[in-house]
Amino acid sequence: MILQKLPKELVRQRHVLLQDALRPEFHDYPIEKEYPILLSQAAGNYSYCAYERCRDSGRLQLLSHASFWPRSLICRDSGSRIPVALVGNVATSPEARGRGIMRNLMNFLWDQAVLQKLTALILWSDLHQFYEKLGFSMEGRELRITYVPGSITLPASPGRQLRHHPTEEISPSFLSRLLEVRYQTGVSIERSLREFGELLRIPDTHLLSLSAEGGDLLAYVILGKGYDMPGVIHEWGAVSPHILLIMIRELLSLAELPEIMLLSPPLHGVWKKELFAYAAEIREHHLALIRSDDLTFREKIFSQSFIWGLDTI
Ligand SMILES: CC(C)(COP(=O)(O)OP(=O)(O)OC[C@H]1O[C@@H](n2cnc3c(N)ncnc32)[C@H](O)[C@@H]1OP(=O)(O)O)[C@@H](O)C(=O)NCCC(=O)NCCS
Repeated sequence: MILQKLPKELVRQRHVLLQDALRPEFHDYPIEKEYPILLSQAAGNYSYCAYERCRDSGRLQLLSHASFWPRSLICRDSGSRIPVALVGNVATSPEARGRGIMRNLMNFLWDQAVLQKLTALILWSDLHQFYEKLGFSMEGRELRITYVPGSITLPASPGRQLRHHPTEEISPSFLSRLLEVRYQTGVSIERSLREFGELLRIPDTHLLSLSAEGGDLLAYVILGKGYDMPGVIHEWGAVSPHILLIMIRELLSLAELPEIMLLSPPLHGVWKKELFAYAAEIREHHLALIRSDDLTFREKIFSQSFIWGLDTI
């Protein structure tokens, strides 16, 4: 068995493995469309894998795959950057499962992280026990706030314009404005405007804004992302919690959604009071699974971090 960056001739096998393991029965679009940066042919190679060569035919056989995406966490106050890698698209082909191959591949990724002086591996999964065996622990905090039709009982507020922005019409200056309005967190993933534009191309990702009569931006949300997040607002910003609630109420009614879930960093003050007041349900979860040797990072920095949905893999 060989562990290394994915050789070019295994790209097709990668797509088949990931589609079958992570999106069974889902045929609306191929998985590589959901990862325009990580899985596109034009992008750099962010894939690591375990494979073997068939003795008779000489053909390469993909056994396991994981994406490894070096990123930076950026601290809002100091501007300092912490290099990390996001890990995703984790799968072992069905006939190779249970042989310790993913354990080996994850250890290989950890060695890459050490070599590249990265502070942590970060990933998202419901398979907590599996990843805990591989040295990951659940850290950080995220709120999942659910709103349903009728739960936001605020008076009508005419004169505001709700807009859906088709990807091809979004300018870099508008994206830059969104980042200014985005709810502020102590530490988040650094994202260039080019990456922002590319990530908004993921199918089923909707950028919506609310403006005042004069055109001033009052709020924006990103609703949905690929296969994983229907009905979820995973990134948002607003001039006040009141405005954000009005926007969610409009979306619930216009899109005829049974509910909208708002993913949020821990909230304080008026944001907490108002966004909680109209919620049908509020849950707190860990933000991610991380593997890191750095205790200060785990206990002090990651606890203040929030990773917006567009940046997760
Ligand atoms: C989950 C998956 C990647 C595991 O790959 P694998 O190569 O079989 O894993 P390994 O053989 O290296 O297992 C390492 C350890 O985890 C355990 N393990 C494997 N799958 C597990 C699971 N689903 N839940 C809990 N533990 C699991 C193994 O028993 C082994 O433990 P041990 O060392 O104590 O014996 C593979 O089953 C898979 O591709 N599943 C479908 C896709 C998927 O769910 N991907 C993860 C999405 S985040």
